[in-house]
Amino acid sequence: MSKATPITIVGATGLTGHAAFTSLLSSIHPFAVTALTRRPLDAPTSLSPGSTYTNKVYPDLFDAPKETVAEPGGIYVSCLGTTRAAAGGLEKQEKIDVFLNCELAEKAKKDGADYLLLVSSGGSSPTSHFPYSRMKGTVEENVKRLGFKHCVILRPGLLMGTRTEMRVPEWTFQKIFGGLKTIGAPVGSLCIDGTDVGKCIAYLAANPPDEPVTILNNSQIIATAALFKGNDQTTST
Ligand SMILES: NC(=O)c1ccc[n+]([C@@H]2O[C@H](COP(=O)([O-])OP(=O)(O)OC[C@H]3O[C@@H](n4cnc5c(N)ncnc54)[C@H](OP(=O)(O)O)[C@@H]3O)[C@@H](O)[C@H]2O)c1
Repeated sequence: MSKATPITIVGATGLTGHAAFTSLLSSIHPFAVTALTRRPLDAPTSLSPGSTYTNKVYPDLFDAPKETVAEPGGIYVSCLGTTRAAAGGLEKQEKIDVFLNCELAEKAKKDGADYLLLVSSGGSSPTSHFPYSRMKGTVEENVKRLGFKHCVILRPGLLMGTRTEMRVPEWTFQKIFGGLKTIGAPVGSLCIDGTDVGKCIAYLAANPPDEPVTILNNSQIIATAALFKGNDQTTST
């Protein structure tokens, strides 16, 4: 059995982050997963032979970069993000989505990680007129400049999945896209299950792309997720 690959994840209590945490720990490739969270994670439902997990809890995640974020030669994954409503305004959202994300990625690089995977968003651009797309584009530009050996940026469309809190606009679009999906409409470029983002991350963590910078759109994330193999040794469906 190959040695477990060290991988640090932030955002593991969220929709895509928890999906990634679960897929990493059930992957046929062994991972030593460290999750940095501000509240404790539930124990994983499935743990592959050779894989391990550690949950480091920081009530204020801004304290995490003061300690070790990632292992030398390891992987750093960010599924961290918030909403304007949850953060309490645009400036506070920017503090998390941009500053905290950039600070953690920089520290991971300093610690010696050589691979970064970032969950960004479709339509990201540092010059966008939309603050959300601009914030995501700004983070992308910053992490690309850090010089990781591999840098993968995922740009999902609308995320589908169950949340503990109600987000009315997202919920409305989820209902529309969910309905279109059930009648076979081609929505693969517009929306994605959070679980597929998690599977894509776990597949790419075990199989780094050759290019230094790789950007995947919604359809490419779905296609990559289908390559993921869990510890039942079957290709995911
Ligand atoms: N919603 C969409 O349709 C959509 C589409 C495309 C891209 N995206 C982007 O994709 C990324 C992942 O989305 P998601 O829906 O999986 O995110 P999510 O479910 O909202 O989870 C976000 C994660 O970030 C953590 N977080 C938020 N604020 C924090 C803070 N102040 N301090 C510490 N941790 C904090 C959360 O921790 P707690 O659990 O403790 O809050 C959670 O683990 C985000 O960057 C999002 O903007 C979203």
